[in-house]
Amino acid sequence: MPGTDEATKAITAAVVDSFHDTPDSRLRELLQGLVRHLHGYVRELRPTIEEWEYAVDYLTAVGQKCDPTRQEFILLSDVLGVSMLVETLNEQASGTESTVLGPFHVVESPKRESGDNIDLMGTGTPCVVSLRVTSSDGSPLPGTSVDVWQCSEDGFYDVQQPDVQPLGNGRGLFRTDDDGRVWFRTIVPSHYPIPTDGPVGVLLDATERHPYRPAHIHFIVEAAGHRPLTTHIFVADGPYLDSDAVFAVKKNLVVDFVQVDDAEQAREYQVTAPFRAADFDIIVEPETTDPETTDPAAIEPETNKDAR
Ligand code: BEZ
Ligand code: FE
Repeated sequence: MPGTDEATKAITAAVVDSFHDTPDSRLRELLQGLVRHLHGYVRELRPTIEEWEYAVDYLTAVGQKCDPTRQEFILLSDVLGVSMLVETLNEQASGTESTVLGPFHVVESPKRESGDNIDLMGTGTPCVVSLRVTSSDGSPLPGTSVDVWQCSEDGFYDVQQPDVQPLGNGRGLFRTDDDGRVWFRTIVPSHYPIPTDGPVGVLLDATERHPYRPAHIHFIVEAAGHRPLTTHIFVADGPYLDSDAVFAVKKNLVVDFVQVDDAEQAREYQVTAPFRAADFDIIVEPETTDPETTDPAAIEPETNKDAR
């Protein structure tokens, strides 16, 4: 058989060694690990030249599909479960679990007041979402920024349908009150397919995987002195909770969107009955000052930096 174990391992060793003098130790570790794992994959699966060329063409097409509003590499990372793996490895040790950011977050959501309606379309099942943000010790976190975004009842984000939805539909940047609470009016989001008109769609097609995400509402929670949290809540009675195309469901994030028929309660929340109500408590961890989890470069004395 061509390519003896000894010969291929010598190639790997030479490439790993070529990074030996990388001054940044973390960069060195990441690159040498990448080479070891990538070479191990190639050694195990022995791709043909044609298969390797296909892979290169595929990644080229992924890059070519990217533009300022479309990030096909992130989508590829999402459907391969890598985004979720990185998110989970970096999540806070306790408190609310995190999940993927996804490609539909915009830099600045419209600023809104508690109680505002983020649904600018006026269609769909009315819904009231109530959140309370606390620190790990249970104390409320007033003034916390809560960035919210969700799709329409048809399963599209505003940025996907600029001719149909006003920009800012389904989005809002809120602040919690003195008790760490914030609530808003919206509509129940739909499940939806991730974009399939690019190379990621080709991959899903070839592997007979469906492109759907279960219905959810995204949040980025940023409290002073605390770790930022990127997460969603998922609608408990919707489809695809067991087969999210991007593997982002965690069971503690699945929330009952309870049907409320009471006209009095509907009046109180300025919605029409019947409506759905979702309550969710968010716990964020104080920022750590533990030297083991702090970037060593950040605490290195100035004199050592110059010596490199
Ligand atoms: C989203 O939830 O917006 C999303 C996440 C990953 C891929 C596509 C969409
Ligand atoms: Fe989403």
